[in-house]
Amino acid sequence: MASLTVRQLDDKLKKRLRLRAAKHGRSVEEEIRTILRAAAADSDEFAEATGESAAAGARATARPNAKRVLLIIGGGIAAYKSLDLIRRLKERGLAVRVVMTQAAQAFVTPLAAGALAGERAFTELLDPQSEFDVGHIRLAREADIIVVAPATADLIAKMANGLASDLATAVLLATNAPVLIAPAMNPAMWSHRATRRNLGTLAADGVHSVGPNAGEMAERNEAGVGRMAEPAEIADMAMALLARDPEKWEPVFGKDHAQSNKGTPGALAGQRVLVTSGPTHEPIDPVRYIANRSSGKQGHAIAAAAQAAGAAVTLVSGPVNVPDPPGVTVVRVETARDMLRAVEAALPADAAIFAAAVADWRSADVHGQKIKKNAGGMPELALLENPDILATTAQRKRGRPKLVIGFAAETQDVVANAKLKLKKKGCDWIVANDVSAEGGVMGGDSNTVHLVTESGVDSWPPQSKDAVAAALVKRIARELKGDAS
Ligand SMILES: Cc1cc2nc3c(=O)[nH]c(=O)nc-3n(C[C@H](O)[C@H](O)[C@H](O)COP(=O)(O)O)c2cc1C
Repeated sequence: MASLTVRQLDDKLKKRLRLRAAKHGRSVEEEIRTILRAAAADSDEFAEATGESAAAGARATARPNAKRVLLIIGGGIAAYKSLDLIRRLKERGLAVRVVMTQAAQAFVTPLAAGALAGERAFTELLDPQSEFDVGHIRLAREADIIVVAPATADLIAKMANGLASDLATAVLLATNAPVLIAPAMNPAMWSHRATRRNLGTLAADGVHSVGPNAGEMAERNEAGVGRMAEPAEIADMAMALLARDPEKWEPVFGKDHAQSNKGTPGALAGQRVLVTSGPTHEPIDPVRYIANRSSGKQGHAIAAAAQAAGAAVTLVSGPVNVPDPPGVTVVRVETARDMLRAVEAALPADAAIFAAAVADWRSADVHGQKIKKNAGGMPELALLENPDILATTAQRKRGRPKLVIGFAAETQDVVANAKLKLKKKGCDWIVANDVSAEGGVMGGDSNTVHLVTESGVDSWPPQSKDAVAAALVKRIARELKGDAS
């Protein structure tokens, strides 16, 4: 390799270098190293010329003007999935840089993360090599988005409190880029009040989140909400955030987004909200089931609006074709009995909104094999009543959410029936909507609702389901704050 000394450079260049080095308080050699490092990081040509592209580098697969993701890996068992996440991000044409916490290095090595990213993984805050040019600020500035995966309970707590005690938290505090967290932890840690509170703070600060999902935990015999979202889900969410036009941001929540029509940002910070949505399917045999026309649009819109207002939201959804709202924990169920189980598992909650159209009845016999058409005349369909999820929750002696809201889908005497339902179920509010076929509410995008409470009936004008959701969330926030004005 040819060697080049400072003396061989022309005088003008030497002078500029000296001035630049003095300005940054470095030696001329250090300044040159800094410039070369920055060039190596920024230039595809450089990466190719130095063979870095062969190391499956982020730059090698990233498009010329690739957006840059800074992936912070926290110290949780799901850290192994973050190696796959690096690949998923790069598959989407993003350049990936990795920062690892000390605890993360007990789960995966910086070598593996660096090899996949194509650049060494950064681990130290007080590292003279990285910090002679204030590396943590550079890492923060050079990212178009920061993804924290897994976001441990510890990292979430540090972020919520603005700590900067290691490289990961210092970068997070120094960045202006959007931040997406993918929480992953044991279900007890996830539902702990402290974690809820911290998540509420992060939501109010404009931090986005994806997952966690429900499922089996790494610990034996443990299941519940706490599994990190799948790498592809996280990568898709990062892409969606990067694709947004900042001028027209209608983001999930946060301080920059006061104009969002999805609710009042931060109004539900620190609150836990449970929403049910969609129909239930009650099997008759392996191919047939009892169902209804609910699309899930209204329930999903409420979950999205509550999340936009900063709540930690669990959405228990029957089978629907609408996408999961970002940043919401989604538990998918099929039958009414599954839905009740999922609702009970998701408690405690501060508010529970039961927008699902739960089937009132299920088949008394669920046949193991498909019922044949001509096997002895018409089959009898005996029905059993399903559990009443709204009433069960509203009448809980312990752990009743402060606010329990039911939906009434009526085709006649909408308000009168809603008033009766309010009393019978023991809930606090009923959102009554006319679902007769001519209104097109079931499956449609708009809704006309009447909010029935102890103190009266509020009839809202016809509006989109998103607008109904935003208005309802606003009312819920007021109620939970004890301000019913
Ligand atoms: C085997 C093992 C698995 C762990 N998994 C998790 C986890 O999934 N989520 C979590 O929040 N903490 C988990 N922890 C605890 C964290 O490692 C610990 O809180 C650590 O301080 C997190 O550091 P960090 O947030 O700086 O990466 C685990 C600990 C051990 C020993």
